[in-house]
Amino acid sequence: MHGENISYAYGFWFLVLVNVALFGFFILSFLTPFKKREWRAMGVTLGFFVALFTEMYGIPLTIYILTAILGSRYPALNPFSHASGHLWLTFLGGGALMMTVIHIISNGLTVIGFVIMWKGWKLIHDAKDSLVMEGPYAYVRHPQYSGLFVIMIGMLIQWPTIITALMFPVLVFIYYRLSKREEEEMIRTFGDEYKQYRIRVPMFIPKIRDNRKGAMEPSPETDGMPLNWLAPVYDRLCSTFGLGLAFRETTLRHAALKPGERVLDVGCGTGVLTCFAAKFVGEKGQAVGIDPATKMISIAKENATREKSRAGFRVATIENLPFEDNSFDCVLSSFMIHHLPPVLKLAGLTEIYRVLRPWGRLLAVDIYRPVNPLWWIIAWVLYLSRFTRDHIAGRLPSYFRKAGFHQVETVGHSKGILTFWLAQKPT
Ligand SMILES: C[S@@+](CC[C@H](N)C(=O)[O-])C[C@H]1O[C@@H](n2cnc3c(N)ncnc32)[C@H](O)[C@@H]1O
Repeated sequence: MHGENISYAYGFWFLVLVNVALFGFFILSFLTPFKKREWRAMGVTLGFFVALFTEMYGIPLTIYILTAILGSRYPALNPFSHASGHLWLTFLGGGALMMTVIHIISNGLTVIGFVIMWKGWKLIHDAKDSLVMEGPYAYVRHPQYSGLFVIMIGMLIQWPTIITALMFPVLVFIYYRLSKREEEEMIRTFGDEYKQYRIRVPMFIPKIRDNRKGAMEPSPETDGMPLNWLAPVYDRLCSTFGLGLAFRETTLRHAALKPGERVLDVGCGTGVLTCFAAKFVGEKGQAVGIDPATKMISIAKENATREKSRAGFRVATIENLPFEDNSFDCVLSSFMIHHLPPVLKLAGLTEIYRVLRPWGRLLAVDIYRPVNPLWWIIAWVLYLSRFTRDHIAGRLPSYFRKAGFHQVETVGHSKGILTFWLAQKPT
């Protein structure tokens, strides 16, 4: 039961109190503040949870604002039921499966966050005054803060609100500043030992190492964001979020592939789109996918074998395409460009331009300025990353033009936050 049948599932102040007390108790236990600046950070942290649970069970401020702005376009039958407060669920079309997925992810992150905080707290507590570099401290220098961020991300997935979405980056900044101050003290106490540790170990986000056997070829160096770690669950995630075969069909309809054409799929992931493209171009054509994530390529090859597809796959990066000039009729780039920092976006698109034959075309689909205003509640966060900033700021077409493409056309939108472009190489 998720309150679907209650027309106004708010005003439960006892639940607000219980949840704030519970979260507050654990967070205060694992992050006990002593200094003034630590108390200040704790004050804002507790403010986050008070704002969160007040909106979850007390007053649905975000929903009032959304329904006031969007009126009849708000996509929920009863916006004040508890289920409609799970905004991601409402945006993504609802359903029991989606509700379960959202709860598994968000509750899982909350538990993981508390475990990380507890482990970090225990190690520090047991170590008295010596330097701790094991357990979670072997992966990040401030695991208790990382744990707190993981809990907050879990909560933003479970119950996003305007206030908590605005508070989250502020809190990250506050804890970043606090960590810097703490590190100055650590250097005064432990000297070079801490300096060495600081070089080796990241602050909040662990480095991802892929030592699994599936990585057959070494991954090429890239400043992009290869997705080895997501490869085993990637296809399932795509179908859950509405990016299954129907979406791939739409992508290829925009690309208007013809039999006999040569197609390149850059950042092909598990190769679902590449295999689909291979069907369109037929026996006389050719479809090739490249990706630096060796695990993705190994799954793409397995997928192609299972489907008896003629698609081929190679480990490579978009910024260094292993193909001759003028060798493809069409290049596909599906959710790829946001995996590149600004310099590589241009380098990658320039490479695509090089390998396309004159009058060849690029069909790209990616995150862009939301056409559905609801998305802005969350989408502004993407402005904080250099990988996605130019997307949200609407600057992607200028990259296509700088790479040499003359005709750059927006040919479609999907899910309120995705845009399709068709760009042509002149003669
Ligand atoms: C979100 S996935 C998209 C996969 C697939 N195109 C799709 O539509 O499902 C982005 C892919 O870009 C790949 N990638 C990251 N950096 C890259 C680079 N420098 N060159 C090419 N691909 C890259 C990642 O490994 C990942 O597989």
